[in-house]
Amino acid sequence: MSLTGFKRTGYCGDVSREMVGQVVRLSGWVQRTRDLGGVVFVWLRDREGMVQLVFDEATCGSDCFRLGGSLRSEYVVSVEGEVRLRDEQAVNAKLKNGDVEVFVRQAVLLNKAETPPIYIDDNADENEIVRLKYRYLDLRRPSMQKTLRLRAKVISVIRRHMESEGFTEVETPILTKSTPEGARDFLVPSRLHPGTFYALPQSPQIYKQLLMLAGFDRYFQLARCFRDEDSRADRQPEFTQCDVEMSFIEENDIQTVIEGAFAAVFREVMGIELPLPLPRMTWIDAMNRYGSDKPDTRFDMQLVDISDRVAGCGFGVFESAVEAGGTVRGINAKGLAGKLPRKEIDKLGEFVKTYRAKGLAWVSLGEDGSVRSSFNKFLTDELKASLFEAMNAEKGDVLFFVADKKQVVWQSLGELRKEIARKHGLIDHSKYNLFWVTEFPLLEYSEEENRFVAMHHPFTSYMEEDRDLIATDPGAVRSKAYDLVLNGIEMGSGSIRIHRSDMQSEMFDLIGLSQEEARLRFGFLLDAFKYGAPPHGGFAFGIDRLIMMLADKDSLRDVIAFPKAQGANDLMMPTPSTVHQDQLDMLHIKTVGAEAEE
Ligand code: AMO
Ligand code: AMP
Repeated sequence: MSLTGFKRTGYCGDVSREMVGQVVRLSGWVQRTRDLGGVVFVWLRDREGMVQLVFDEATCGSDCFRLGGSLRSEYVVSVEGEVRLRDEQAVNAKLKNGDVEVFVRQAVLLNKAETPPIYIDDNADENEIVRLKYRYLDLRRPSMQKTLRLRAKVISVIRRHMESEGFTEVETPILTKSTPEGARDFLVPSRLHPGTFYALPQSPQIYKQLLMLAGFDRYFQLARCFRDEDSRADRQPEFTQCDVEMSFIEENDIQTVIEGAFAAVFREVMGIELPLPLPRMTWIDAMNRYGSDKPDTRFDMQLVDISDRVAGCGFGVFESAVEAGGTVRGINAKGLAGKLPRKEIDKLGEFVKTYRAKGLAWVSLGEDGSVRSSFNKFLTDELKASLFEAMNAEKGDVLFFVADKKQVVWQSLGELRKEIARKHGLIDHSKYNLFWVTEFPLLEYSEEENRFVAMHHPFTSYMEEDRDLIATDPGAVRSKAYDLVLNGIEMGSGSIRIHRSDMQSEMFDLIGLSQEEARLRFGFLLDAFKYGAPPHGGFAFGIDRLIMMLADKDSLRDVIAFPKAQGANDLMMPTPSTVHQDQLDMLHIKTVGAEAEE
C-alpha cells in the first residue's frame, strides 16, 4: 500500500496523443468504471482532468485485472501503463484526451472510499446544503477546481500589478476595534481584560489611513474583512478585499491604479483588452438615467422625467406627487406589448410595490395602433402626444410610470427595468461594462435614526465647491467618493479622505456624533491627524465579487473554498458551535438561553 515505485510521471488530464507508446505512471481518484467481462475500463481523475485506463487481463496479469474489477467511485489508485491510440470509433468526445487510453501493466490501490453523498460531476444538480456539508467532495468537481485556480491567478495578477506600481503590502490586525463601515461587528471576548471585546475588522480602513500618516505613501493588502450582515448571493460574512491607499493624490490618480489592475486581470485571465481610461458617470446622472448608483448598462430602457408634462393633466396620482415635491418618471419597454398582457403588467405592479411604489401606471401601444392605459380617462390626445414624444414611444411599446418621492421613483423604476430585462432576455451576457460612478453625496438621510449618516464612511471628504451647502442643504453636498461598477454590481468603493482633525470633527458633528462619542471611538485618529497627516485617498474592491463575475457564477459561495451558508454558518464543521463551560468561564462569559457544553 505504499507509493514505492509508483511516483507519478505526470497528470491524468495531461496524457495526450503526443505520448502514444510511452509508459506513464498516474495517480488519482476513480471517476467511474465499466466492466465488460474480459476488460475493465476506468476513468481516473486528478486536478488536470481524466484519462481512460484499460485493465485487460492479457496485458496486466490476473492480480492486477482483479484489482481493476474491484475499483469503485472515488477509490484512490496509482497505475503504470502504456499510452495507446484508441480506434477511430472508440474516441470519446467527452474527454479532452478521449482519443487515447492507458493500458495498465501494474496498479496499486492506495485507499478505498465509501459511496460519496454527491456525484463528483459538474452535470449533477446537487442540493447546495449537501454540497456545503461535504465541501471537500464538492471541491473535487472540475468546475470548482477551475474556479479556485482562476481565483489564485487573479490574485497573483493583482499582486504583481500593485507591486509594479510601487505599492507595499502591509498586514493589519484581525483583532481590532470596531470600524466604521456601518455593518454589525463580530466580537471576540478578551480573557486578559474581563468584560472587554475585540472586534474583527469590517475593513482595514483606519489602519490604512494611519499607514499614510506613517509615510508608506502607497499601501495595499489582500485583506480579510468580517461583517455580521444577513447573507445574500453577493454578500458573505467573511470576504476578501484588495484594499488600497495612496498619499498626495487626487481621485484620478487612484482610479488610474485600480483600473490598471482590472485591465491586467481582464487581459491576463480573460484575454480581454479593456479600453482605458474607463468611462465615468456622476452619481446624479446614474440615478436619473438608471435609477441606481450601480447601473446595469448592458441594456438601455433609461428613466425619463415627465413631471413637467403631466402638470394639470387631471390624473390625481401624477398631480399630487408633483405638488408634494415629488416626481413622475417612466421607462419604455420597447416592443414588448405582445409579451406583456394585462396579467403580466399586473405582476409588475406588485413587483414595484416591494420597492415602496404605491402603484404602477402604464400605457400599452398595440401593433394595430390601439392604445390601452391604466389612466385612460386622463389620456387626452394632447397628453398622449406629449408623453409619446418624451418616451420615444412607438407601436408595440409599453410605457410604465411611477409617481412618488424621488428616491422611491428611482429605486422602483431602477429595479423594474432590471426585472423586465431579465425576464425578456434584453441583457447581452457577452458584455463587461466596467465604469466609475463619481461624486456620491456626502450624506444620506436616515429616516430610522432621524439624522444624516455618512453615505460612504465618515472619513470621506466633501467637494470644495459644495462647502457652503454644508450649512444650508447638507443632503446636497457632494463628496469625493467613487464606486467601480461592473454589469450592475458594485465591485468596489473609495474616496479622498479628510486629513485635518478640524474637518474630521466637523464631519462627526454633521452626522450627529457627539464630541465625547467621537473621542471615545476615534480619539486616536483625531490625535494622529495632529501630527502631519498627508492628503490621501484610497479604494477597496471585493475579490470574491470580481471572481464571481469573471467565473460567471450567481453566488459568492461558488468562488470561496469554504464559504458560509445562508445562515452565516459553516455546515461542514459545523460552526458556530457551543464551547466548553471552562472556556466560557475563562472568558468571563455567561450565556443566556443557549446552553454551553458541560
Ligand atoms: P465598502 O464597504 O464599500 O468600502 O467595501 C468595498 C468592497 O468590498 C466588497 N464587499 C463585500 N464582498 C462580499 N461580501 C460582503 N459582505 C462585502 N461587503 C463589501 C464589495 C465592496 O464594493 N474601507 C472602504 C473602502 C475605502 O474607502 O477605501 C470599504 O470597505 O465589493
Ligand atoms: P387608482 O386611481 O389608485 O386606481 O390608480 C390608477 C392607476 O395608477 C393604477 O394603474 C395604479 O397602479 C396607478 N398608480 C397608483 N399610484 C401610483 C403611483 N404612485 N405611481 C404610479 N402609478 C400609480
